[in-house]
Amino acid sequence: MHIDILDVFLVLLPSRQVFRRPNTASKASFLPPPPPPPPPSSSSSSSSSSSSSSLIYAMAVIHQLPISATIAALLAQLFGVVAMVLMFVWVLHFRGGINLGAENKSHIFNVHPFLMYVGYIFLSGEALMAFKIVWAEGWMQKLVHTVFNLIGLALAILGVYAVFKFHSDLNIPNVYSLHSWIGIGTISLFGFQWLMGFLLFWYPRATKELREKLAPWHALSGLVLFLLMICAAETGLVEIAAYDRLRRGEESRVVNFTGLFILLYGAAVTFAVLYRSSSNVI
Ligand code: HEM
Repeated sequence: MHIDILDVFLVLLPSRQVFRRPNTASKASFLPPPPPPPPPSSSSSSSSSSSSSSLIYAMAVIHQLPISATIAALLAQLFGVVAMVLMFVWVLHFRGGINLGAENKSHIFNVHPFLMYVGYIFLSGEALMAFKIVWAEGWMQKLVHTVFNLIGLALAILGVYAVFKFHSDLNIPNVYSLHSWIGIGTISLFGFQWLMGFLLFWYPRATKELREKLAPWHALSGLVLFLLMICAAETGLVEIAAYDRLRRGEESRVVNFTGLFILLYGAAVTFAVLYRSSSNVI
């Protein structure tokens, strides 16, 4: 059984008889027909059917491209590490350092973006790609996936604790911004997702039928949560740039490039994950 996000879309697609799952054994021969042209007077339901057909077509085309999950995953490592270096430069060089117990409150705050990217987003991205980049048996890939996500969650909680501490030390209210709403929502859902995954796939472990049914949904919601983390990071960076009134200058360039490379990391991880899986992991 493949854990494949494509499965979810194939289930959702109204005209799914048009598209068949690509045959991994003969990828080159899988040429999905183009989506049917929209009717002249398209109603809302037919237009949504046509747009989901286009989506499936686009996803199926990914499997035809002369680029593999491995290349996408390698690009992801490159973008992810560049974003990490930029994050280091930002918090250490421009903002004085990271220290949860510091007298200087901004050093306490710096723990937040640092852990949210390096600890949470990067580790979650690696966990998502574990089924592509860990050259081991399915159960080992699954273990890496589970453990990386758990460490990411723990570091995210520590990262949010840092900003709560910073706020309470300076008497700043908590959870007032759009960024914090997206962030707190994402972490809560992520915790729930991890727990459900553990109960379903590890202990007490659901029946094979149920696991097969829910695995694509687990994969899809994991990817959506990962993209929400990226949104949270982008809004966080914009917020700090606005709050500190960063105008054109070295620090603002570092912040902008950090955001861009986090976005690129998200895009490359998404590409690697959407590319067909060939492992038997559930
Ligand atoms: C990586 C770059 C990030 C930066 C620069 C950043 C920046 C900030 C800033 C300036 C605040 C304080 C103001 C506010 O409450 O909005 C904050 C709070 C918060 N951030 Fe982030 N953030 C980042 C990533 C994330 C991520 C990835 C998440 C979660 C997925 C997150 C979750 C939160 C939460 C829950 C709060 C509210 C804490 C409170 O109200 O005390 N942040 N962040």
